[in-house]
Amino acid sequence: MMKRPRILRQSPAIRAMVQETRLSVDNLIVPLFILEGEGISEEISSLPGYFRNSLDQTLKEVETLWKLGIKSVLLFVKCKNERKDNAGTEALNPNGLMQRSIKAIKQACPGMFVMTDVALDPFSSYGHDGIVKELEIVNDGTVSVLAKMAVSHAQAGADMVAPSDMMDGRIGAIRKALEEHNYHNTGIMAYSAKYATCFYGPFRDALDSAPGFGDKKTYQMNSANRLEAIREVRLDVEEGADIVMVKPALAYLDIIREVKNEVHIPVSAYHVSGEYSMIKAAAQRGWLNEDDAIIETTTAIKRAGADLIATYFAKDIIRILDL
Ligand code: PBG
Repeated sequence: MMKRPRILRQSPAIRAMVQETRLSVDNLIVPLFILEGEGISEEISSLPGYFRNSLDQTLKEVETLWKLGIKSVLLFVKCKNERKDNAGTEALNPNGLMQRSIKAIKQACPGMFVMTDVALDPFSSYGHDGIVKELEIVNDGTVSVLAKMAVSHAQAGADMVAPSDMMDGRIGAIRKALEEHNYHNTGIMAYSAKYATCFYGPFRDALDSAPGFGDKKTYQMNSANRLEAIREVRLDVEEGADIVMVKPALAYLDIIREVKNEVHIPVSAYHVSGEYSMIKAAAQRGWLNEDDAIIETTTAIKRAGADLIATYFAKDIIRILDL
């Protein structure tokens, strides 16, 4: 008997009827870069079309996003150079930019689900995610600072903290610290399988947080590894993660799928800065149709198994798909 798979592809109607994966505004997490000052909105040169905003401008942006149906933002702050050190002091400042931003955003837009980056690199004079001792990124000393940082974000009103550092044991330590301080409702989105990759380059430009020496390969994962991602994800689930993340997304679609098959909690993927810039650069040269590239790649990330996607393309996706 003749099988004719093209029957299901013959018109827009039937193609729409049998489409398996659909992007929704509910699944998008919008990263925001915040800097000190007022009235500032600076385009990040290696992230064309994306901005670093002062807090007042950020509040306007959050309102715009909320009106578009976006439900979650992921906050990153740019720390002034003179406030950086090797102890994460500014990361714990109750009046630091992160803490002020969380409070202001929750006040201006209480329904917005606020997630915060927990890692020391933007605050580190070495540009590393942990405390440095004789060129080593110290694990346990860093974890205790990260736990305090998470509590400080919870105190400011964060709904969920997102540790992006890849230190061992930090999810358990953060859960414990949150419980001890009665933040029973503060969640953890763990960057569980976070790879050492060239694709974070533009992000490090955005926050001026590139490592001052060496690279991040003693804590972020080797991009050639698959089973290690499963081990990392399992540990984070055991330690109390509410959501696990794979990062980057596009070059790691296989990992997203394996993680999705492995765990029974939501999986997120971070479509990272370099992945955004690649599409932007090709589109600027007229080599790719930008809108088509955005929808195809983001849909692929969801198809691979990501329930949630952190992406710099959120507003474009909403515009293109008229969500
Ligand atoms: C830092 C952090 C990084 C990103 C998110 N959190 C960079 C890094 O690990 O060097 C990258 C995000 C992106 O590239 O979009 N802990």
